[in-house]
Amino acid sequence: MIFVDACFGKKTPYTPIWMMRQAGRYLPEYMKVRGEAGDFLSLCKDPQKACEVTLQPMDILGVDAAILFSDILVVPLEMGMDLRFVKGEGPIFDNPIKNEADLDKLVVEEAAQKLVYVYDTIKLIREKLADDKALIGFCGSPWTLATYMIEGSGTKTYAVVKKLLYSNPEFMHKILKKVTEVLKLYMSKQIESGVNAVMIFDSWAAALEESAFFEFSWEYMKELSSHLKSKYPNIPIIMFPKGISGYLDKIDGDFDVFGVDWSTPIELAKEKLGDKYVLQGNMEPTRLYNQSAIKEGVDKIVNVMQNNRHIFNLGHGILPDIPVENAKYFIKYAQESTKI
Ligand code: CP3
Repeated sequence: MIFVDACFGKKTPYTPIWMMRQAGRYLPEYMKVRGEAGDFLSLCKDPQKACEVTLQPMDILGVDAAILFSDILVVPLEMGMDLRFVKGEGPIFDNPIKNEADLDKLVVEEAAQKLVYVYDTIKLIREKLADDKALIGFCGSPWTLATYMIEGSGTKTYAVVKKLLYSNPEFMHKILKKVTEVLKLYMSKQIESGVNAVMIFDSWAAALEESAFFEFSWEYMKELSSHLKSKYPNIPIIMFPKGISGYLDKIDGDFDVFGVDWSTPIELAKEKLGDKYVLQGNMEPTRLYNQSAIKEGVDKIVNVMQNNRHIFNLGHGILPDIPVENAKYFIKYAQESTKI
């Protein structure tokens, strides 16, 4: 698999490419299946339909890897939290964690079992996906999941979760530990069901100052990745802490690929981490509105990375109103520009 080879830093005939949120609302085919499922969460819980939308971008765009169709928030959902997706507002947990009793109610082993629809989706995808294409499994980082579980929704200030972090760090750690335990079980089951690589999304990394990032987020991501590496050394691990370009000097750990968001200069990531880790990213997602902006963005990244220790991707998810022909152009142009 060209994608797995690239994750391990092997030379590949061209730089493999996929896009975060590649199965999503910019594709009319996705909207049709989501409509049939009723809503987004029902789609996540329906292995046949989740498999179908996972495979759509393989055929439509010709990307080099599939990413499991699901969401990071199914983990807190199955731990026992009430999750709703509200149009225009995003995810909402009606009963956020406020105290020890709220945390004690949440389950660990049972959550990993209840996520069986994800494992069933993975098995179906692996049956249908071409043998040379990798399937990427994923989860949210403990910190990003805990942020949602404590705030109850997306947030601009992170005031609720950071108030807790600074006023009761022991309790914050207790929450993070519990989430990490679920993720160890969940990601092991994803791997045993057939994913060929895993990615840990730390979307809210940049909410934290440096010392807090390493103590409350990166430590737990590293614990999860070391656990998985020791059990499954052949499964590459991608870490994606978004927006922490100022902290790159202190990044270490037992993983293979570092996801570079769009705001981090690729030269900087290469200088600080390029020898230790393969880099993934970092195309600015809104360049996809315009084909000459795509060309310019790809040329710049190719010029720095030279088809070496790199996986092409956006620096964050594709937006819902990107024209499909521009997404196709990005994939094709990146693949052709990096051919040996
Ligand atoms: O990348 C993929 O194609 C795989 C599927 C995937 C989804 N969410 C599907 C989805 C992945 C990897 C995620 C990760 C995820 N989910 C993250 C981390 C990455 C990031 O974006 O920073 C986060 C923070 C979430 C939580 C989440 N899920 C939010 C905030 C939202 C609403 C915002 C939005 O974009 O609408 C979702 C919904 C969601 N997850 C959609 C998709 C395709 C849109 C749902 C729909 O309306 O169809």
